[in-house]
Amino acid sequence: MIAVGTHLFRATIFHTPANPFDFDIGDPRALTCHQDGGLLAGDGRVVACGEYESLRAEHPAVPTTDWRGGFIVPGFIDSHVHFPQLRIIGALGHTLLDWLEHVALPEEARMSETPYAADTARRFVRALASHGTTTALVFGAHFPAATAELFEAAAASGLRVVSGLVLSDRRLRPELHQTPDQAYRESRQLIERYHKRGRLLYAVTPRFALSTTDAMLDVCRRLLAEYQDVRLQTHINENSDEIAELARLFPWATDYLAVYDRYGLTTSRSVMAHNIHATSAELERMAAAGTAVAHCPGSNAALGSGVFPLSRHVEAGVVCSIGTDVGGGIGFGMMKEGLQAYLMQRLAPDPQILDAARLLYLTTLAGAKALDLDSEIGDFRAGKAADFVYLRPPADSVLASAVHQADSPQRALSALFTMAGPESVREVRVAGDVVHRMGEL
Ligand code: GUN
Ligand code: ZN
Repeated sequence: MIAVGTHLFRATIFHTPANPFDFDIGDPRALTCHQDGGLLAGDGRVVACGEYESLRAEHPAVPTTDWRGGFIVPGFIDSHVHFPQLRIIGALGHTLLDWLEHVALPEEARMSETPYAADTARRFVRALASHGTTTALVFGAHFPAATAELFEAAAASGLRVVSGLVLSDRRLRPELHQTPDQAYRESRQLIERYHKRGRLLYAVTPRFALSTTDAMLDVCRRLLAEYQDVRLQTHINENSDEIAELARLFPWATDYLAVYDRYGLTTSRSVMAHNIHATSAELERMAAAGTAVAHCPGSNAALGSGVFPLSRHVEAGVVCSIGTDVGGGIGFGMMKEGLQAYLMQRLAPDPQILDAARLLYLTTLAGAKALDLDSEIGDFRAGKAADFVYLRPPADSVLASAVHQADSPQRALSALFTMAGPESVREVRVAGDVVHRMGEL
């Protein structure tokens, strides 16, 4: 029986149900592609994905939307992004600690004005959706009211958002600090209010080891123990000055991860951003724990943080996904972020080719794995949520010419990763619901 409301979408369809890093570059098994494809969706779920003609023959009565000439991909999953930093994208020329002090933290302090935070949150969720991002792991604000505004804006938008109150009790600016007790109480209140409400999930969010004392890290441990399925997000191994300072603050720590290890924060529910300067011992422990790394190539280049050792992460078996790291990063576009990863890995000391299959995987299913949501989202296997993006470059654009000229669908996908921005994002759906349609607010 096919449910009422079932719908067939016709376009060229790409997804990566297999992990492309398990195959050589160019192996056709890495990328599932249906050139004249059909995505059959009903009750917010994928019923089937395959060749249009055979789905049409099996379901002759189902209405069809004809998007031929366009492309359908799974919704993008941004696994590291800061909502309070929307207005500071583009402050170039800094390094991490100086950027935090002079650019990021003054703006984060403004989130104490709740109406300003609410306006930022609304702009933020609109920006995610209009760039084709359907799920995001988001750093909230240091203020509970501002973080609640992000959750409210996310709920109203229909996006999947995992977020939490940012916790810090030293080294930032006094107005951004909470006491550990306050952090515990306020986090619990937000968890009770928002975790698993609709498409929302909660992530315990210590900003980074430099801004959290042992007492605050212990609060994080307690929250993870008390709420078995909340996630954890933080930063690690981003910048060499940061790592030198960590050694001063935690003289007992053999490496950066040891600080998080001690407080039980290296878990399969944890996503740590950057990890550029990781040691082999840290990679081993992350792989064993199932802790994921959010790679943020635009931010890494913009802040001069370094070149991410992707090959070493893949070899160690660490789950890596991609994050935009707005506002240290360069914008909300996950395809642009994928391209930035490709460019940096071409030039890495240990180069690695990221073809279109790998870029699609890193920006979709890998993010779902990082968030432990891969049974629900990330590709078009039957039964998954119908989260997808309809891409079509503007007529007469250079990208339209490149896509039209492409001698294979794979080539068209790499042209999309190279040039597609929000002007190519026509429609975005989460669980079958429209969350963005070009030209509509
Ligand atoms: N480390 C601690 N806070 C931040 C932040 O806001 N952005 C980045 N890129 N790194 C951080
Ligand atoms: Zn960040």
